[in-house]
This record gives sequence, structure tokens and C-alpha cells, in this order.
Amino acid sequence: MPDRDIIVGLDIGTSRVSALIAEYDESGELCFAGAGSVPSDGLRKGVVVNIEAAQKAIADAIEAAEQEAGRTVHDVYTAVTSGNVEGLNSRGVVAVSGKGREVTKQDIDRVVDAAKAIAVPMDREILHVIPQHYMVDDKVGIRDPLDMIGVRLEADVHIITGSIAATQNLIKCANRSGYRVNEISLESLVGSRAVLSTDEMELGVLYIDIGGGTSDVIVYMEGAPHFSGSLPVAGEQITTDLSICLEQSMEQAEKIKLTQAKCWEPLVDPSQEVLLPGIGGRAPRSISELDVCQITQSRMAEIFLLIRKQLHQKGYMNRLGGGVVLAGGGALLPGVGELASDIFQRPVRIALSGGMKNLPSECRGPEWTTAIGLVMDVHNRIEAGGGESELPSGRQIWTRLKEWASNFF
Ligand SMILES: Nc1ncnc2c1ncn2[C@@H]1O[C@H](COP(=O)(O)OP(=O)(O)OP(=O)(O)O)[C@@H](O)[C@H]1O
Ligand SMILES: [Mg+2]
Repeated sequence: MPDRDIIVGLDIGTSRVSALIAEYDESGELCFAGAGSVPSDGLRKGVVVNIEAAQKAIADAIEAAEQEAGRTVHDVYTAVTSGNVEGLNSRGVVAVSGKGREVTKQDIDRVVDAAKAIAVPMDREILHVIPQHYMVDDKVGIRDPLDMIGVRLEADVHIITGSIAATQNLIKCANRSGYRVNEISLESLVGSRAVLSTDEMELGVLYIDIGGGTSDVIVYMEGAPHFSGSLPVAGEQITTDLSICLEQSMEQAEKIKLTQAKCWEPLVDPSQEVLLPGIGGRAPRSISELDVCQITQSRMAEIFLLIRKQLHQKGYMNRLGGGVVLAGGGALLPGVGELASDIFQRPVRIALSGGMKNLPSECRGPEWTTAIGLVMDVHNRIEAGGGESELPSGRQIWTRLKEWASNFF
């Protein structure tokens, strides 16, 4: 059984592995208990490539959080990126079967199941099915059709799939570190649910999580996700660009990025210089801050332009009345908000987490959105009465993994 009085969010990222423990106090309020974050190892573009290294980073992050919280962790909630696959929209239709043609809970479950009946490639599984809205006969845009009278019930849903192998490897790493995985969710979905306001989701909002290995995107309209996807370009690419262009090691390039880089030229003082250490005993040299900015800005702009192009093709660009929200460690780069605002021509804000008592300021930043989102998602479902949700449980994931494996053996 999962721990009942604590909830642990484990963000196994390409750059960092972060764990956050929240607990319920005597009055039943959710409180921050402890957090740990260590550099990640063994992942590329959000996918485990070295189990042993990833396992060690997971153990280190959770141990640090356990120490701060003074609690022992047994099970965790974790997340994956959606890989290079987009979420998709689907529709299901069923006949209303209830007495007096009243829509029942069973009808709603059946119509969502019917919408789920899509061809999923053998190596992927459905992680989330999120209802967007329902239709009862010719009445459209219904949020909750329960007890409505009609003959035909339809549901539009957003379906998010994940790679089974990627999920399996994450579970394996966590298990080997001694922790059970209760659920695996999509990183950008739990993160966005934790930081977006209801108004933003209603008006239409673009949420971008700029991590180390991937930039994950999710678009909400009328309160529900309509588009989700992921680009394999993010913070690490900016570091690689700096390393190549400035002829510096990756460690040095990362240091320059974290301490001196900006990605919006108007913020740069052209007289400022960045000191670059000499390689192999050569003398250090300096370069203008503007030159550094041009490198970071062009890569960040490329990420935003690729996203804009995708959304433009799908017709979402002019439906973002709620603006743009940036999360992930990449959202800490100075000037990223100004650049995004220039490219998307929408107001932009950086994600800021809350929702639990005593959350320290260092855990409110955009790099903590996923770990906090994982905790808040579970908490919100408990608050809502612990009812069925669209998230499959860890056990269901295991059942599907077994089915998938039995196809091969
Ligand atoms: N202050 C900062 N300024 C600029 N970039 C930063 C800052 N802090 C972190 N980053 C960058 O953010 C990235 C890491 O972000 P994050 O921790 O969200 O990634 P991750 O979750 O490990 O990766 P992914 O989600 O892609 O698997 C790194 O590329 C890092 O260099
Ligand atoms: Mg991440």
C-alpha cells in the first residue's frame, strides 16, 4: 500500500533528479517536509541510458529529501516526458443506457473507453485520457453530462501516450534504489496542472517546460489539454553551443550559462565582458557579454520558433488568450520571458509553485514544477474524494507491461 501520510514526487530529469516529500499535519493540511536535488546521470533526452548511474542519482536525491524531512520513503510518484510523440485528440460515441435515458457514471466511463479505442503502436501505452467536453445529442460543450437526458453521448478526449520501454526503465531504476513507483504521469501535464490558473486554462494557454534534454509543450483550451508534445532541444543544447562557440569544456560552458548568460539582447550591457579561462595553460581571454547572449538567444529562439510553427500549423496560435507560462530550469535564464513574449506575441510569465504549507522559496522556482506537480496531483485527487481519475495506477502500468512483454515471449 502507498504511504498514506506522505506524498513523494520524484522528478527524474536529464539534468537533475529532484525529490520532494510532502506530509499531512495534524489538521490534515498538506505541508512541505523535505526536498533533495542532485545532478542527474544516466539519462539522455529524458530517457534512461545507464540504469546504474540513474539509480544512484535517484537514491541520492531521495536520501537528501528523507534527511531533511526526517521521514522514510517507500513509494514515489514519478513522471516521463512524452518523447517525440504528440498527444492526440479522439472522440467516442455510445448510446445512453440509463433508466429514463439519464446519463449515468457508467455511460461516462463507457464513452471515455470508446474514445480510447485508438491504434497505439506496440511499444507505447496510454498514460492519460483527459476528457475535454461531452455532447448529449445535439447539445455541445458539456463539462459534466451526469444525469442529463438524451439518446447519444459523445466525448472528446486528449490522449497522451508514453514509451513502454522508457517507463519500464524508470520503474526499474526506482525499484533498484529501493522505492516502489505508484504512478507514472506525463511531466508537462502534472507540472502545468500545478501552476496554471483556471482562468488561463479556460482562455487558452501555452505551457512550456524547458528542461535539460527536452522542451515539453502542452496547450490548454476551455479548461482541458488539446495539444501536447516534446522537442529534443533544451538547456543542454544551449550549453553545447556555448562550449563549441567559446571553445570551452562543457562544465565551463554550463558555469558561464548559469552565471553570466542572458537570452535577450536588450538586457545586455555592451560594455560588459565575460572572462573565459584558457584551455591547456593558455592565457584567459575575454569576450563581450553580447556575443554570449547572441549564442544563447539564437538557440532559445529556435526552440520557441519550432513550437510556434507547430502550433500555427494546428491553428492554436491565435487561441492563447491566457498567454504563455514557462517552466523547467531553462526558464531561469535571464531574458527568456522577454524573448518568448516577442516570439509568441503574448504575455509571458515564469511558473511559480505553491499549494502547500511551508514550501521554501528555493522550491517555488520553475525547476521544481514537476516534483511539486506530482505531489499536488495526488493531493488534489485525495481532496476530491479519492475518486477514479484518468491516471492509470502503477499496478495498471505493470499489468500492461506484462501484456506487452507476453507478446514477445
Ligand atoms: N539559473 C539558470 N540559468 C540558466 N539555465 C539554467 C539555470 N538553472 C538551470 N538551468 C538549466 O536548466 C536545465 C535543467 O532544467 P531542469 O532541471 O528542468 O531539467 P531536467 O528536468 O533535468 O531535464 P528534462 O526535463 O529535459 O529531462 C539545464 O540545462 C540547466 O543548465
Ligand atoms: Mg524536467
